Amino acid sequence: MIAGIFVLLFFAGITGFFWYYASPKFTDVGYMPEQPVPYSHKLHAGDLGLDCRYCHTAVEESAKAAIPPTQTCMNCHVLIKPESEKLALIRESYRDDKALQWVRVHKVPDYAFFNHSAHVNRGVGCSTCHGRIDEMVEVAQAEPLSMGWCLDCHRNPAPFLRPLDEITKMDWKPSENQLAYGKLAMIQRNISPPTDCTGCHR
Ligand code: HEC
Ligand code: HEC
Ligand code: HEC
Ligand code: HEC
Ligand code: HEC
Repeated sequence: MIAGIFVLLFFAGITGFFWYYASPKFTDVGYMPEQPVPYSHKLHAGDLGLDCRYCHTAVEESAKAAIPPTQTCMNCHVLIKPESEKLALIRESYRDDKALQWVRVHKVPDYAFFNHSAHVNRGVGCSTCHGRIDEMVEVAQAEPLSMGWCLDCHRNPAPFLRPLDEITKMDWKPSENQLAYGKLAMIQRNISPPTDCTGCHR
């Protein structure tokens, strides 16, 4: 696959056009694997109102958002529902100091480079790429994460940029003057997302 990409990079102009229009746009949307513990974002991030960064602590500093260790769950669950059957695996993981194996939902192939901090620190919010996580009992993939999808925004990010202190606000909506706001934000934050092949295939 890697070698194939290098060959294609050689014909970048033509293949870029081809892959952009040919790459599937709706693959994997709706993918919702079953998790070992019935953890609900709707309850914790929605009803209880926990900020995403309480658990996904690395999202502003690194490429990965990070899945929290069971220690984070036990901050509350030593006291809340300490006997719950649904939390048995969490207590076990905590007691044995062994990470719980959650099933991965979102994944871009290894040959494509993605970085969370580069996005959230420029004002692209979680819900733009992950949908209304605060309404999901189980996490499902909301967007295709295909190359065409990435490029649609990279070519024209203005409609999606928001104030930097609202990146985890789930019900954010573009305002009436979003385009003007977005274009100004692009200048102020010096935003020009990569559209060349090597920007994402390094
Ligand atoms: C109390 C901790 C906690 C909070 C708060 C939280 N999450 Fe999560 N999140 C988890 C855990 C645990 C998983 C792994 C299990 C799962 O997928 O449901 C996860 C999984 C995810 C995934 C899927 C990861 C994958 O495998 O692709 C996304 C996306 C996500 N969270 C986004 C958010 C967003 C956006 C918010 C804020 C609205 C948020 N989370 C708030 C604990 C949390
Ligand atoms: C800020 C406190 C807090 C944190 C942190 C937290 N929870 Fe919870 N959790 C709650 C509350 C409150 C409830 C609702 C309890 C009730 O229904 O009375 C709950 C309920 C649950 C339930 C349902 C239990 C049952 O028997 O109905 C599960 C499962 C659960 N949480 C998993 C997790 C996991 C996994 C994590 C870590 C990723 C986590 N929680 C982190 C506060 C928290
Ligand atoms: C520009 C789109 C985009 C934005 C904005 C975004 N994500 Fe993601 N997220 C992705 C993609 C793509 C993946 C898969 C990454 C991979 O395979 O390396 C992912 C994976 C994840 C994962 C699981 C794997 C990991 O990286 O640890 C979590 C958790 C997550 N995102 C949470 C969040 C949270 C919380 C926010 C907001 C603070 C957020 N994301 C903002 C696109 C985005
Ligand atoms: C909703 C808009 C949006 C989506 C969707 C999006 N991006 Fe971006 N991307 C941006 C913005 C804005 C930047 C910041 C550009 C800058 O700082 O100049 C960026 C920057 C990047 C960078 C440069 C990071 C660096 O450290 O140099 C890479 C690589 C990247 N994106 C990859 C991806 C990939 C891969 C996807 C799809 C899985 C994706 N992006 C989806 C808006 C988006
Ligand atoms: C904004 C980021 C980004 C840029 C720029 C980009 N790609 Fe991609 N590319 C991706 C992502 C993400 C995937 C994985 C898509 C998937 O999983 O469906 C991908 C997949 C591919 C694939 C695998 C086949 C496919 O369609 O799934 C090839 C080949 C490829 N890209 C070539 C290129 C070439 C050639 C260019 C330059 C014209 C380019 N890419 C520019 C993000 C990018």
